[in-house]
Amino acid sequence: MNRRRFLHAAAAGTAIVAGGGIPALSSCGDAPTGPTGASRTPLPAGTTMGGAGMLIAAPGSASIETGRSVPAWLYNGALPGPTIRMRRGEGASLRLVNQLPDPTIVHWHGLVVPDDADGHPRDTIAPGSSYQYDFPIVQRAGTFWYHPHAHHSTAGQVQRGLAGFFIIEDDEESALHLPQGEHEVLLLLQDRDENAALSYTYAPSAADLTSGILRNVPFGNGVQRPTLAVDGGCYRLRILNASHSRIYRLALDTGTPLTVIGNDGGLLPSAIESESVYLGVGERLDLLVDFSQLRAGNRVMLQSLPFMLAGDLAVRYPQGIALDLLEFVGTGEAGPISPPLPPTLSSVVDLSPTVPGERTFVFTSGAGDAHQINGLSFAMDRVDERIPLGQVERWIFQNDSTLPHPVHLHGTHFQVVARSDGRNRVYPYERGWKDTVLVMPAESVEVLVQFTTYRGLYLLHCHNLQHEDAGMMLNVEVF
Ligand code: C2O
Ligand code: CU
Ligand code: CU
Repeated sequence: MNRRRFLHAAAAGTAIVAGGGIPALSSCGDAPTGPTGASRTPLPAGTTMGGAGMLIAAPGSASIETGRSVPAWLYNGALPGPTIRMRRGEGASLRLVNQLPDPTIVHWHGLVVPDDADGHPRDTIAPGSSYQYDFPIVQRAGTFWYHPHAHHSTAGQVQRGLAGFFIIEDDEESALHLPQGEHEVLLLLQDRDENAALSYTYAPSAADLTSGILRNVPFGNGVQRPTLAVDGGCYRLRILNASHSRIYRLALDTGTPLTVIGNDGGLLPSAIESESVYLGVGERLDLLVDFSQLRAGNRVMLQSLPFMLAGDLAVRYPQGIALDLLEFVGTGEAGPISPPLPPTLSSVVDLSPTVPGERTFVFTSGAGDAHQINGLSFAMDRVDERIPLGQVERWIFQNDSTLPHPVHLHGTHFQVVARSDGRNRVYPYERGWKDTVLVMPAESVEVLVQFTTYRGLYLLHCHNLQHEDAGMMLNVEVF
């Protein structure tokens, strides 16, 4: 009944939130479906640090549910690792200490930093050594993250538990008085094995090498099937898809549309409402949810809705299966109500190309783990593209395979201007600035790219971690 109602609503599409309040969840009295309460695990909030300190990557144990831990590799002992929170204009001084049995390096996904602080795999450090990162925060507010980037080892290291949030704040965002403290929730989404003993291990099957690792148990902030107690206030929900390969189609089981205020690169030009939102690997979403109508003990589920993928592989838990990601349970207490959003959240200037023509990147997946861009597999010392600093270029990401490819660029953000074939549209939640864009089978996505700040060596790659490790990655030199 619930399901039918929101699938219907999904056809209604999206709308701009015009300066008003956000929609309150109006139908929260429905009976819960699936595991609830006792069989769910409280969502951990994690710890926070500033821009100075140490990140220690080391073996440890991850608490996956109350009273149960499994061996894992972690930053500072937890997944997510410490949330790094900084303001624009500050300087970061962070030291990665490698206490893993493997080489590693940290990449700050979505941060504009000098190339020697970007975590390029050429900077991988040996077990027992450390790497110093010094960089200024030169970009607008947003939800970013960090994770390992050692070539051929990224997938396994993220799978074992290495990832964390990097939050940037600025004056423009502060002026909006968005929910904060307990009303700002960070959610790191992953899917892991139903056999808890295997949930943080990495042993890809032959099928996994093609599709990537797709499992059926949703994890949030490292714990399985999370639940979160919420008062009747307005919450800011920052969601990160830190999965190996899985794409989510986020929605609330009440059918209430999602109010989206931001994505990969920070705030959208204006808040929009969307019945559901596709979130590819590496992408982020910034939402507001009003729980003022949620009565004590009642529940709302953040779900991933089913979707179809033409030609997806016959794996056990393919892309597009329905998943219950995070349960919210009302406490019945009153909570802070946020002021109405202004019609404009942020000023985003539209890029226009300064050179004619385009660069085209064709993504192909062959048998086994043959994942390539323009027929090339990543080579550490080969420069694949040279881009002049400041030039605005039109790039085409063309998917000539039957697998989805979330395409990610280091060193800058881009604007998504067109998508042809497949879903055949740019979604309102893809406006503003992006560093990762989902390119479904047969789709071509057109983006405008400008490197504005640093010269040096950056990367373009698919963020399906199996594909990335298999070499679906190019070196991009900004000169
Ligand atoms: Cu999130 Cu090159 O990575
Ligand atoms: Cu990145
Ligand atoms: Cu891919």
